[in-house]
Parts: sequence; C-alpha cells; structure tokens
Amino acid sequence: MTGSVGRVKVGNLKAGMVLASDLKAPNGRFILAKGAALSDKHTRMMKVWGVVEADIEGTDDAEVQEKTRIDEDTARKGEGIASLLLPPGDDDHGCLAELRRLCGLRFTERIAAGASGSFPELEELHRPRADILRAGPDVDIPEEGVSPEFLLRQDVRLASFPDIYFKIREVLNSPISSATHIAQVVGKDPSLTVRLLRLVNSSFYGFPAPITSIPRAVAIIGTNELTSLALAVSTISVFKHVPPHMVDMKSFWKHSISCGVFSRLLAFSRRHPSEERFFLAGLLHDLGRIILLTRLPRMMTSLMEHAKRARRPLVESERAFLGYDHAMLGNRLLEQWNIPEPIRDLVKRHHAVPGAEGNDPAGETASGDAVLVHLGDVIANALRVGTSGSFFVPVPESRAWDLAELTPPALESIVKQGERQVREIMNVFLVF
Ligand SMILES: [Fe+2]
Ligand SMILES: [Fe+2]
Repeated sequence: MTGSVGRVKVGNLKAGMVLASDLKAPNGRFILAKGAALSDKHTRMMKVWGVVEADIEGTDDAEVQEKTRIDEDTARKGEGIASLLLPPGDDDHGCLAELRRLCGLRFTERIAAGASGSFPELEELHRPRADILRAGPDVDIPEEGVSPEFLLRQDVRLASFPDIYFKIREVLNSPISSATHIAQVVGKDPSLTVRLLRLVNSSFYGFPAPITSIPRAVAIIGTNELTSLALAVSTISVFKHVPPHMVDMKSFWKHSISCGVFSRLLAFSRRHPSEERFFLAGLLHDLGRIILLTRLPRMMTSLMEHAKRARRPLVESERAFLGYDHAMLGNRLLEQWNIPEPIRDLVKRHHAVPGAEGNDPAGETASGDAVLVHLGDVIANALRVGTSGSFFVPVPESRAWDLAELTPPALESIVKQGERQVREIMNVFLVF
C-alpha cells in the first residue's frame, strides 16, 4: 500500500477523501467498500448509521490531530482520567508515562467525539446492577465456600466445547495430514471458512495480495495459526448465550481480543518464535471472569464496587474474598478443555506481576513470557478497548516493562498497530 492512512472523525470528513478500509456501521452492517471516494451524501449517511470515524488514505495521525483541534479543557479532562486510571508513582517507568499519555489522548478523543467521559463501556458490562442485587442469593453456596471446582461443576454447558477445534487437532496430529485435509475439515464449517478468509486478508497478517481459497489460506497462514483461529471461533461460540444483562460479551471480547493483539505484538517485538500463542492466551486470559460474573453475579457486583472504592484492580478483590482469582479459575476451565499447557500457563500467570509474588495466593510468578500477556492486558485496560470488569488498571512495576524489553517509542508504535488490528479482528470474530 502506498501513502499514509489516518483515522478521521466523521465531523472532519470531506467529500473526495478516499476510504482506506471497508466502512461498516457499529452493528457490523457493510456501508462502503475500501477505495470509495466520499461524497457529502456518504458523510450524512455515516452519521445516520452511527459511524464515528473512518480510515482515510493520504492522511496520518498528526494531520488528523490537527484537523480535530481538541480544546484545552477537553484535553485536560482526558489527561485527568488517565491519571486516575494509571496514577503516577515513585516508580514511574518511561513506558508507564507513555501509556498514561496515550490513555489520556484516547479519552480526549472520545470526549471530543461526544462521550460523557464517564466510562460508558465499563458501566455497560454490568448494566442492571440493581436487578442483580434484588434477585436474591447467587447460588446455594456450600458451607465450605465457593471453590473453583464448585463453580466449574455447576455449568454443564461449559464442558461441551465445540467439535471443530478437536477435529482440526485430530487431523493435524495424523501422520498423513496435509493442507488439503485441513482445508476439507475447515470447509465443512461455513462460519470458520468465512472468518479464516477475512482474517488472512486483514492487516493482522498483512499479505499484499488477496487470498481467496481455503487451501491457499491454510498453506499461507500455517497449521498453528489455523488451530488458533478454530479455538478462538469455538470459544466465542461457547459463550454466545451468556445473557447480556449479566455480561456485555461484545465488550468482553473486545477487551480479550485487544489483550491478544497487544500481547502478540509484544511477543513479535521480542522476536518470540511462537507469537500466535500470545494472541490465543490474550483471547482466553479472562475466561475465568465470565464464570465468576455468570455464576456469582451478586458477589461480583459487590466486588466490583469494592475494588472501585478501594481504587484497586478487581483481581485483588477476587483474591481477598474468594482466596483465588479468575486467572486460576480460567486455567482450570482450559484444563478441562484440553487446551495445550503453554497457553494455559500464560493465562494462569497473567496477573502474577514481577515483584508482587506475595499478592498471589497460588504463589505464581510471571515468567518472561507471561509478562507479555500481563502488559497486553494492561495496555488493553488503559486504552479501555472493551472491558472485562476491572475499573482500575493493574499498574505494572518497572521490572515488567524491562522484562519485555520495551521502550516508550516501541510502545507507541505497538499501540497504533494494535488498535488497527483490533478493529479488523472484531469484524472477523464478532460479526455474524
Ligand atoms: Fe485478568
Ligand atoms: Fe484482562
């Protein structure tokens, strides 16, 4: 692709600007194809459909910033929110300061685009709080307390993991497996076929020419990535029926996909040989929280309030009240699903912050690899791309940034690349 691309707010779009990617409404409905030149009618239509911005060719972020001309008061509000979420401390690593700056910028943009500045996505995750509190006790809690086994035993649906992932793994493990065999298995699942083709043609892989057939896609992206995609699609379908009044799954997956994308980019920047594992681990990292939110809605509502009042990340309230956290619970669930150990390990340790071993009842400490998922989660939380329920961002210690060998300019470039990929992957996984 030639020329720069920038995200332009709908109010700043002009007739003649050229779309750098397909334009869709927030509900996923297709509006205009990449390459289309905008007319005044188009920009009016975009407002009607609730589109807030578009990728435009021949602009860059600096230009967009200038066009947006954000006033000082709005910028101060954005910075204020960033300092609340990521308070400056004695141990203020350069990367943390940079993340705070980027967080401030994103909130400033949202407020300038009309958001109230009151964290709408976060509030949405647990919308009818009063209903939940009125509904009576969560479950018949046994005398010995709410163990992870108790929570996982209760919901039979969680045990029924979709077949397609296991079928693909079976073919992969067979001595005669080939790209053609795998393509045949994938071809039987239309939803997987569509998602696979969308994914290989997205900026996540960044291939220059369009890929239009499944055997070609399998040959190009490789069998590991294909298994990952199958796992991702299968997992999202397992939780399709979670009632929206309990968890806003769209916001939850947005957070999970963001964590996966940022973790993968961090692994890529460290030249890690299995970057795909990081995307998956990020996608699955907070699954334990869905179990908690759906099985113990009342308790989790109180814990969310407690964490917010105490200005601590939600994971700490989970540990204080339950004796374990969603990372440990998620690992148990993935064990039941036979998810490979290296992925589970990253999930289990994603909150085991270096230097804070004492805070974790399981005694887990983050390995060099798990730090990347931890930071992916921190970035996703700080930019508030979706949410999994924690109001405050777990602030990483300096050692975590150093372990990831990250510098502030590298962080900025990962955030910019990541945000673009998150938008594309949301379209792959969440548009049905
Ligand atoms: Fe988490
Ligand atoms: Fe998370």
